[in-house]
Amino acid sequence: MLTAPISAGQVSFFVAFIWSFFAWIYAEVLHRQKSTRNTHDSDDDPEAAKLLHANGGGSAAAVAKEGKDSGGGGAGEHAATGGKPEPVYPPHSFGPHSGILESMANSGLVACLQLKPSALLQHRHVLRSTVEFGLLMLWYFIADRTTIIGEGPKDYSRDLFLFLFVILTCVAAGSSLQAFKMPLLLNRPQTEEWKGWMQVLFLLYHYFEAKEAYSAIRIFIAAYVWMTGFGNFSYYYKTGDFCIGRFAQMLWRLNFLVFFCCVVLRNSYMLYYICPMHTIYTVFVYVALAVAPQLNQNNIALLVKIFLCFVFIFITWDLQRVFYAIWTPFLWLVGYNDPRKPTEDLLHEWYFRSSLDRYIWIYGMLCAYMHPWAASVLKAIDEMPAIKRFTVRSVILSACGVIGWYYYIHIYCLEKYDYNAIHPYTSWIPITLWIVVRNITPTLRIYNLRLYGWLGCITLETYISQFHVWMKTDIPDGQPKSLLVLLPGYPLLNFALVTGLYVLVSHRLFDLTNALKNSAVPHSNNSLLLRNVIMMAVTGAALYGMVAVMYNLGMGGALT
Ligand SMILES: *[C@@H]1O[C@H](CO)[C@@H](O)[C@H](O)[C@H]1NC(C)=O
Repeated sequence: MLTAPISAGQVSFFVAFIWSFFAWIYAEVLHRQKSTRNTHDSDDDPEAAKLLHANGGGSAAAVAKEGKDSGGGGAGEHAATGGKPEPVYPPHSFGPHSGILESMANSGLVACLQLKPSALLQHRHVLRSTVEFGLLMLWYFIADRTTIIGEGPKDYSRDLFLFLFVILTCVAAGSSLQAFKMPLLLNRPQTEEWKGWMQVLFLLYHYFEAKEAYSAIRIFIAAYVWMTGFGNFSYYYKTGDFCIGRFAQMLWRLNFLVFFCCVVLRNSYMLYYICPMHTIYTVFVYVALAVAPQLNQNNIALLVKIFLCFVFIFITWDLQRVFYAIWTPFLWLVGYNDPRKPTEDLLHEWYFRSSLDRYIWIYGMLCAYMHPWAASVLKAIDEMPAIKRFTVRSVILSACGVIGWYYYIHIYCLEKYDYNAIHPYTSWIPITLWIVVRNITPTLRIYNLRLYGWLGCITLETYISQFHVWMKTDIPDGQPKSLLVLLPGYPLLNFALVTGLYVLVSHRLFDLTNALKNSAVPHSNNSLLLRNVIMMAVTGAALYGMVAVMYNLGMGGALT
């Protein structure tokens, strides 16, 4: 039934899952017992019940709140439990001297591992999220790595491809048109909508293998990287908030799911190349602004910084030897070999993918920097007298049309390899044209399609899930060459069913990633953050080490 042997990493995951499952069931049982006890108490003695409540009997709400900003695979220590008042410490009460070890010993993770009832009760919600996440990972495994679920071939029809997109857009327009509070250039709902419809086309392109849309898809991916530069720059530039906790949360958001996919499915990080690409460019934007932050207030200095980013990328990417020298030590992280098309050059995938969009994040930063100026130009146009306004807009749109047409003929229509060669230097053209056209009048800026915006928020999860629970890769590091089939003989009904399930799974994974992030990665307590990182690494390594040793002693021969 399995399409590949089982690894020690997979067994470790399974052990952790089984443990969480029983811990969670135990926590639920404890919770039931406590609620019945509380009801009884209130029957007998209303005063006592009130007291209990005040002391933390209403644990669900307390836990939910507690989980928000505390640590340690769900720490948030010292909450009152079971109505028994315990000393209340200020949250995260350890300084450099009270000792990180002591703090670890007191953490929620350790208490849960010891199956302390109070800790299990307090972290019931975190356990629940862990178990649900584990179940979804099992679904990934069953759908993609066993022969239990059928598979079918891809089949492209331009008619169907476009029909699906048109229909979805009509539904979005008919049911989810919404107005933002003001006509801001590139407002958040608008960029979410942008991500959403691009993602729909990107996914359909994979599902139907719509080869003819190749260049469009390259532009969409460039647009995502552009948004990474744009969004992150705007945030740091406006707020000057370089807090490590927030940055760590962002890294968690980008890499949590993909990490478990790699473990559970024995894949390389680079199979999901979007994740390393966004991670590295997110880090670059952060570094560009967080180093000597006082310079960000000075326009010239800031432009010099942006220029230095170009120089930096030119040296470390365009000079291919430098790139290989830098990244070869990280081959374990960014190497990739397609089992169906083996290659000698394991860095090629990373070089190819990251090179395509190596400059566009810097252009995103530049756009964010010029945003106030562009917004004021738009405002000036809005305030012109009607005839002048109309003329100016017509001139701008005509210019966009002419440039777009030239771009289409001379660049977009090139053959794949020729196109890729100039993509890094030209992807900014369609992106800029789209931004101008999409924002030219206040009405266009205000309205957006929320359905696409909603899909735009879960792009990372739909991107990763598509490989395993929408299509099938079958073997470790395989590309998704076939489709998941639950209803054989009915390709369209199957598409509807599998897609529904897939979007649902992706949305749950989005919520779970956030929930677990909030309990494991504290936003504003660096020592707690450090403690949690160490604890997660140590727990994971210890588990993996134990499993790997048992493997070598016992069944090592059968399983690799
Ligand atoms: C920074 O970029 C990452 C990757 O695209 C994204 O997840 C994150 O939301 C961005 N941060 C901001 C503040 O826009």
